[in-house]
Amino acid sequence: MNFLNEVSQHWPDAVSLAAGRPYEEFFDDDAPGRWLDRFRRHLAVDLGQTPEQVRRTLFQYGRTKGIIHHLIARNLAVDEDVHVDDEAVVVTVGCQEAMLLVLRALRAGPADVLLAVAPTYVGLTGAARLVDLPVWPVAGGPAGVDLADLRAQAHRARAEGLRPRACYVMPDFANPSGTSIGPADRQRLLDLAAEEDLLLIEDNPYGLFPAGDVDRVPTLKALDTRRRVVYLGSFAKTVLPGARIGYVVADQRVGGVDGAVGLFADQLAKIKSMVSVNTSPLAQAVIGGALLEHGCSLVAANRRERAAYTRNRDHLLAGLRRRFPAGSPVRWNSPAGGFFVVVTVPFPVDDALLRRSAERYGVLWTPMAHFYDDGRPVEALRLSVSAVTPAQIDLGLDRLAALITDELTRTTVPAG
Ligand SMILES: Cc1ncc(COP(=O)(O)O)c(C=O)c1O
Repeated sequence: MNFLNEVSQHWPDAVSLAAGRPYEEFFDDDAPGRWLDRFRRHLAVDLGQTPEQVRRTLFQYGRTKGIIHHLIARNLAVDEDVHVDDEAVVVTVGCQEAMLLVLRALRAGPADVLLAVAPTYVGLTGAARLVDLPVWPVAGGPAGVDLADLRAQAHRARAEGLRPRACYVMPDFANPSGTSIGPADRQRLLDLAAEEDLLLIEDNPYGLFPAGDVDRVPTLKALDTRRRVVYLGSFAKTVLPGARIGYVVADQRVGGVDGAVGLFADQLAKIKSMVSVNTSPLAQAVIGGALLEHGCSLVAANRRERAAYTRNRDHLLAGLRRRFPAGSPVRWNSPAGGFFVVVTVPFPVDDALLRRSAERYGVLWTPMAHFYDDGRPVEALRLSVSAVTPAQIDLGLDRLAALITDELTRTTVPAG
């Protein structure tokens, strides 16, 4: 992450197909103020708070689990058909804090390990490292998760005396692979988690962005009748990344150190009280107001964004087809939505190549090696379509094609 930031700061004029940020043209200067007012009215009118209570709710230290938990629960019911008690929701400082809290709670001792579908989001592996929780990769593949490998890894870990606590998955338009898990495999994954006594940590920042008009597939949490799924959410892509608001739904009943059984969410809140005390109420109010303005549904509120990401994805895929016609050794996948496309090339893609790409060709992308934690060379790179215009995609692809052509020439051994 730091390396990518450093590269993009050093070459600010390079076209960035690296950043997984939302499209900035839709940011509205007036919206945060309006949303704050909307949430203030909600406190006064819907929740009956006096002016003094409203002031305290917004300006004071606050409830560790947050003040928009009820609106998030409503949002999940409306958009995802996920029905959870408000008390099972912990509002966090971005989804990133939610990951840290969950992994810290799962790490009870040195035998604990986390399974994670590879390639894996770097924020997850970074958080796991912070809490000293080893991550065991599970093959992802084109289906999003290799269920046989998941079972095999769980068995292998147990055979070594370890305790696989959970498996981290991104069923919808994963970062970085772009892959999604199909409906039948989602059910199989839930069954497998129950058979193997594993939790599933479902991370879903991109679920609202399928390409085109296709229907969304139910989340694991929507299908979770056995409380196997801890669900991570983020408003960074669907409302405003600057608010830094995410959340975790943890409706499992768990035993505490004192032997008493309580909600996993309450265990997470205890950890959160030592990490960030509580999530900024002002930032929560902005997101809460956005939810209220849209009847707690973000599907309709993101129609423009979804259309822009679809347009960009289609533009990128068509651009790749034009620049690397049939017979080219360059390949790519065609994700059904989200922000990312993975391009495979017949040479290793590393930070040195990225630096050369920035310096000499003026285009940024992300080496896929960043998303595997084993230091092995990877012959692939991730392109992001979320924060660029079609014209920038054209320019970026022209530059990328020049880089790849030169690398192919450089790495091809002359015949004879
Ligand atoms: C898969 C995944 N999870 C979590 C996050 C972090 O979300 P937040 O910005 O809410 O911390 C991201 C951000 O890019 C992501 O791609």
